[in-house]
Amino acid sequence: MRYQGLLNKYGALLDLPSHTQPVSLLEGNTPIIPAERLASHLGGGFELFVKFEGLNPTGSFKDRGMTAAVSEALGRGAKTVICASTGNTAASAAAYAARAGLKSIVLIPQGKVAAGKLAGAIAYGAQVIQIDGSFDDALTMVVQISDKHPICLVNSINPYRIEGQKTGAFEICDTLGHAPDWLCLPVGNAGNISAYWAGFKQYEGLKKTGLPQVLGVQAAGAAPLVLGHPVEKPETVATAIRIGKPARGEQALEAAEQSGGRIIAVSDDEILSMQRLLASLEGIWVEPASAAGLAGLAHEIAAGTFKAQGQRIVTICTGHGLKDPDIITRDMDKPRIVATNLLALEEIILK
Ligand code: F0G
Repeated sequence: MRYQGLLNKYGALLDLPSHTQPVSLLEGNTPIIPAERLASHLGGGFELFVKFEGLNPTGSFKDRGMTAAVSEALGRGAKTVICASTGNTAASAAAYAARAGLKSIVLIPQGKVAAGKLAGAIAYGAQVIQIDGSFDDALTMVVQISDKHPICLVNSINPYRIEGQKTGAFEICDTLGHAPDWLCLPVGNAGNISAYWAGFKQYEGLKKTGLPQVLGVQAAGAAPLVLGHPVEKPETVATAIRIGKPARGEQALEAAEQSGGRIIAVSDDEILSMQRLLASLEGIWVEPASAAGLAGLAHEIAAGTFKAQGQRIVTICTGHGLKDPDIITRDMDKPRIVATNLLALEEIILK
């Protein structure tokens, strides 16, 4: 049968109110791509898979939670949704609101949102407001606004976002037949790691699919969960996870601990090198934050603190590389210009 989106496929497993009125862009059902060349590069002897969440309708994993949150909001009679965002949530909220005929308002940190995300939010018709502050400041403001006015908050504080995002774990188990040994993923506001852990636990209860150990990865300049305290001025090239006070930090730490995993930090250089490596070895181009999970895995393997041998590892690549093209093009040498002359072309490419 034709694929009809996440609420259609997994709705019975999600804790959503009966008033929920499905709004879908046929999100989810993303591929789990084997990454053998990258696994060998990292030392080999283990199975590595990339769950490429950049292939969701708005180019990031946020669509999983957004289909649930906007469907609930619509069914409840909401007219407007609001979120704070480093960019992907904004684009996703705007798209699902558009599809539902709702107004969307998105608050973003000034100058720190990648071009593809901002363009998406605008194209989908959101009212976009830049805050002269961080994501954390913007989140505080949208929480206050939605407490005061009948505007529905669709950040991952909204429990239905987490319900929708559990489907990532369900899909992994359904595709591989079992949970992997390890799950590696980036951590920003910590909704996704919390949702995956909840999803794996639910499936284990229902279907005995097992539980993964979870490796959550933050950027070193925005690593409150590694440092053990909030970061007032988070900084990282991976702007998606430039967050100093994760709303679901406690749950993320719990997921890491309960699973026998951990949360670590990697440098911006490690993130960018992994972004390039994944694109050049596997043909999978993800945005910088999305390479953090793999960068963390590579970091641990190199440090000898991770026993990869014989393990099945799934890494969540959360957003598409097209979201943030400037990262690649800003330092590049301009491609060479050649006259329309075969000899001149041969001279260059056969040299
Ligand atoms: N990867 C990408 C590409 C993201 O956009 C985000 C979060 C994360 C990872 C981290 O996920 O917050 O659930 O721990 N982006 C949010 C946003 C904050 O506003 O788009 P998390």
